[in-house]
Amino acid sequence: MLNFEIQNPTKIVFGKEQLSKLSYYIENVTTSKKILVAYGGGSAEKIGLLDKIRTELKNFELIEFGGIEANPEFDTLMKAVVICRDNKIDFILAVGGGSVIDGVKFISGAINYNGDPWEVLLRFDGKVFKSAVPFGTILTIPATGSEANSGAVISRSSLKEKRTMGGPLFFPVFSFLDPSLVSTIPKRQLANGITDAFMHTLEQYLTFSSGNLLQEREAEAILSTLIEIAPKIMENPSDYEAAANLMWSANHALNGNLRCGVPTDWSTHMIGHELTALYGIDHAQSLAIICPRLLEVKFENKKDKLAQYASRVWNITGENRAKIAIIQTENFFHSLGIKTKLSEYSTNCSDAPTIIKTRFQERNWTAMGERQDLTLDEVELIVKNAL
Ligand code: NZQ
Ligand code: ZN
Repeated sequence: MLNFEIQNPTKIVFGKEQLSKLSYYIENVTTSKKILVAYGGGSAEKIGLLDKIRTELKNFELIEFGGIEANPEFDTLMKAVVICRDNKIDFILAVGGGSVIDGVKFISGAINYNGDPWEVLLRFDGKVFKSAVPFGTILTIPATGSEANSGAVISRSSLKEKRTMGGPLFFPVFSFLDPSLVSTIPKRQLANGITDAFMHTLEQYLTFSSGNLLQEREAEAILSTLIEIAPKIMENPSDYEAAANLMWSANHALNGNLRCGVPTDWSTHMIGHELTALYGIDHAQSLAIICPRLLEVKFENKKDKLAQYASRVWNITGENRAKIAIIQTENFFHSLGIKTKLSEYSTNCSDAPTIIKTRFQERNWTAMGERQDLTLDEVELIVKNAL
């Protein structure tokens, strides 16, 4: 088992009708009565969630900031940063999915940053946010695990860039997880959420064995749970038990626990982010495009864990089970209505392999993967095979 450290300070408040506790948890963090409430493109208003929050927080002065996009935009978030500075905000409430929560992580770090916060995302000279305004979240879509981790991904479409940030300052103080909100999520976003959680688990599992039997079994439990509940929740998003299992699984897939003591391989995510930045493809869709092709190209590295995954998660036996597990994974994405070819999303993507290879080269990302042996030529080949 590899060495590891873990500390996750986020309080999870799980279940329906818990919002009456909201003001209590905010008052635990700040004496200020003025808070910023950040949300996305309108779903939180439409489903009546914002009204409930306004009622619960009637003793606070709420400054509302809506319009944070899916794949949150740097320019939009910088407007919120100015509002927070002008109003001396010292607590932010994020109401939404990974995009709003990630956006709030960025805002919370940028508020007191002297300089252009973009340089933190580019990590010029190792520049980082040195402080963060505390924030809590009300999760509306199970997918990213952002509600219980300290990472964020920020887009800047004018530059066709999508960049990551994070660190221990960026854990939410609390997160409310209400599975009954899943009933309002459109099918495409539900499928995305299942796929993203599935992929977070796979990328911390399909590497090589480090002897951490517990983490391997936990990953298999999440994958098996997602496979079991996916058809139920796609058929009926109001199935509370299925929704609760999805929300808890997605949380566990990226709350930091699965990575303990095991090798990880985030290259599907890193290549996928480029597809979103270049072609506007949904985050989860980008992963479903890359994952099967990456598993094929890195088959020799991953074949032992693929065989274990085949037997324990898919109940496949026989010598060819590692290869069949890749096909089964792709079929799983298809069963959710997610297409796995880049050309099915964009008609103008033939130069994607070379563009992405060049971008990786510029960033010196020449040795990714669990064995740090994913070459630039392999990155190019994976994207080419995914066209
Ligand atoms: O914007 P609104 O109107 O709120 O609509 C959203 C959005 O269009 C809608 N939605 C959310 N909850 C809903 C709902 N519609 C109806 N009812 C509800 N209850 O769903 C759409 C997608 O929302 P978004 O927040 O973008 O989805 P998701 O949670 O999948 O987040 C994706 C973002 O997270 C990043 C991705 O790169 C992407 O930018 N990620 C963040 C990670 C992290 N912080 O740990 C890890 C991930 O790998 C990922 O990279
Ligand atoms: Zn993801």
